[in-house]
Amino acid sequence: MNRLYYGDCLTIMRDHMRLGSVELIYLDPPFQSNRDYNAIYKDETGRPLPDQINAFCDMWALNEERERALRTMPVLMREAGVEDEAVEFWKLWMNALRKTNPRLLAYLSYMVERLLLMKGILKPTGSIYLHCDPTASHYIKVMMDAIFGHDSFISEIIWNRAQAKGDSKRKFAANHDTILLYKNGKNFCFNPIYGDKGKDYRARFDRDDKDGRGPYHSAPLDSPSPRPNLTYEYRGYSPPANGWRVSQEEMERLDQDGRLILPAKKTQRIRRKLYMSEAPGPMIGDVWTDIGPLQSGQERLGYATQKPTQLLERIISASTNEGDVVFDPFCGCATTLEAAHKLGRQWIGIDIAIHAIKRVAKVRLQERLRLAEGEHFTIEGARDLWSRDKYHFQKWAVEQVDGFVTTRQSGDGGVDGRIYFAMPENDANKRRGLESMAIEVKGGKNVGINVVRELRGVLDNDGALLVGLIVMDPLGERKERNFREFMADAGDLDVLGDMVESW
Ligand SMILES: C[S@@+](CC[C@H](N)C(=O)[O-])C[C@H]1O[C@@H](n2cnc3c(N)ncnc32)[C@H](O)[C@@H]1O
Repeated sequence: MNRLYYGDCLTIMRDHMRLGSVELIYLDPPFQSNRDYNAIYKDETGRPLPDQINAFCDMWALNEERERALRTMPVLMREAGVEDEAVEFWKLWMNALRKTNPRLLAYLSYMVERLLLMKGILKPTGSIYLHCDPTASHYIKVMMDAIFGHDSFISEIIWNRAQAKGDSKRKFAANHDTILLYKNGKNFCFNPIYGDKGKDYRARFDRDDKDGRGPYHSAPLDSPSPRPNLTYEYRGYSPPANGWRVSQEEMERLDQDGRLILPAKKTQRIRRKLYMSEAPGPMIGDVWTDIGPLQSGQERLGYATQKPTQLLERIISASTNEGDVVFDPFCGCATTLEAAHKLGRQWIGIDIAIHAIKRVAKVRLQERLRLAEGEHFTIEGARDLWSRDKYHFQKWAVEQVDGFVTTRQSGDGGVDGRIYFAMPENDANKRRGLESMAIEVKGGKNVGINVVRELRGVLDNDGALLVGLIVMDPLGERKERNFREFMADAGDLDVLGDMVESW
């Protein structure tokens, strides 16, 4: 069954996904997380992220968690089969970046941890496409070479994602993304992709014998590389220096079918007729200029980093066949999942933002593709999330009430998030401007009075105007009454003369 997970792809890949189980991974990870988070928040609320909380969203700080990841990285790399030389290089590189660009180091270590897991999840015949931009594409390529091997690099795709715009007179306008394609083993799936037979392409078919077969163009039969086994003489025409492109049997078949152009002079080269009606179209190379940005309209879901479905359809068609499994560990609003579904592939998606998951499930999967949860796909729920990853359960719960998570991964002990609100500015209110409600989330069964005591402490010492407690299971009537009575002592909040309970 197709699966959509809410959570960090690191823990989900590690705990839930089978090794060697997917044919294609496409990832479009965040780089400037603040910008992404801002955009998502703005989509949902129509307002920009308040300045005060920008600091909560910085994923690329070299904090304790990142330092721990960096320490274990060489071991993880060796376990995943990365060559010793590449591991030693990574260690030197880490030391250099620590001094020169610690944010980039934090980002790269975040990516390496996840890419090592992706390598394991890919089938030996699978392929991986990593979507990035020139801010980090050259660093990422070095990492991909180390993890997948230099020999596994297949293509660097330049996607011309927009018209050049802006009015900088000091540099070229940035209007492309980079997509790196690697294979995971010796063999991999590749179905060539051809573009539309546009005017320029059609103009190449400039001959017509008026025999009903339509226009054709004259194509060479000389081999571009040496073919010593194809150096036969044909009807008095001596072989080209590198030999022919086709076997003698094929040459005879083409001849019988009237598809050869035989010049009068035997010293000239034989060519073949390529008919427009039989040609597949222009071959798509590694510079993609024919897929534009999302236009406003039906496709646009209002998700800031949404990619066009056509882009994903091309990738999936090139590197998978029907029935194969496509996996997107940073699926956002699920462009990959829709493209995979349309092309008859199975899919798995993960995203850490509940806004994304909600929108995907409702608009993309249910309304647009008419897929029913439980029947065609599953979404991993809160209870499962709690047993899997306590921190992400807390984050999920906070985001459910439109709050912002605190970055500290403290598990228990500490406020898990905040909801920000503006107090009306008038004389009746003693406090003004942006205030917050501190949120505590409890997923376990034994929620005791100590939790409420701690929340009272937050109210007294933390500057929060309100506190809130989210629990996974009902407290029971008696406990709920006790909690309410205890918190009633904290007092009421008077806003514009209306009484607002503080619990
Ligand atoms: C650039 S967007 C992907 C957009 C997507 N390709 C689309 O067309 O909608 C990156 C996504 O990664 C998600 N994300 C960030 N960190 C993540 C993590 N550790 N695990 C899973 N998803 C993550 C973000 O919430 C965001 O939706």
